[in-house]
Amino acid sequence: MTRRTIEAPAKINLGLEILGRRPDGYHEIRTVMCTISLCDTISFEPTGADADEFDFKPATSYVPTESNLVARTLQAMRRAGVGIPPQRVTIRKRIPAAAGLGGASSDAAATLLIFEEEIGSNGADIDALAAGLGSDVPFFLHSPAALASGRGEILQPLPPPDPDRWIVLATPRLAIENKTSGMYAAVDPAWWSSGARVEAVASALPSLPSKAPFNVFERALLRMYPQLEKVPRAMVDAGVAFAALTGAGPTFYGLVPGEEDAREIAERIRTAGIEVNVARVGWKR
Ligand code: C5P
Repeated sequence: MTRRTIEAPAKINLGLEILGRRPDGYHEIRTVMCTISLCDTISFEPTGADADEFDFKPATSYVPTESNLVARTLQAMRRAGVGIPPQRVTIRKRIPAAAGLGGASSDAAATLLIFEEEIGSNGADIDALAAGLGSDVPFFLHSPAALASGRGEILQPLPPPDPDRWIVLATPRLAIENKTSGMYAAVDPAWWSSGARVEAVASALPSLPSKAPFNVFERALLRMYPQLEKVPRAMVDAGVAFAALTGAGPTFYGLVPGEEDAREIAERIRTAGIEVNVARVGWKR
């Protein structure tokens, strides 16, 4: 077996509603997820060592093994009976971590896809492995756009969005411990809703929203961190039509007609000292 390399795209959420709390402690959600062309690159190579080895590039993106979802994916496959020898794993991180862009979940799904043949020939179930690793992981195994329900793992494929649209992503620096569970806990049940707004966004695809789709986490995030209000404001001042929150944040995005516009707007937002990325909407494997 030689070195194998795979791209792992980020996602954005085109709206996110919480419908209620489930008996298992998770929340019932509706969201539209859509891949974008901002990708991590992961390579795997069998090593003579007796344990997996991880090389994060840049080194500052290092994630400890116990919370590194690629490490946990390799372990989960082995527990399911898939014989994978110790690997040297190189992860070129481009997707900001814990930012609402699904980077860790996408890395996990890419790891499953690299070993898809081994999973199949050992009779293991790739979808079950994905759902066991995290609510967002199954999405990255499948289509470039989907309506997600349940805890995020029940997926209805949607037409991919207009490929000529670009996206500007602004990710404020914010280290939130156990971000996802903390953000779910920060949502007031009075803000729960029916899912109808997200379903309307889903029905409109391949057309993308012309105003910020409702994301219940925005109110929770801005209540906890009012200093973040300057981020969507800086984006609108820089020329995006709207700034919307992805996932549980803290990344805000704006949709832009073309690459040149997107790069100019990104440059203006960067002058406000915020990390900015530019990508194309709707990345396909
Ligand atoms: O599934 P994942 O590991 O990404 O979820 C992290 C945490 O986020 C869960 O432990 C849970 O507290 C919360 N969560 C939730 N409802 C969801 C997804 C996640 O409450 N639909």
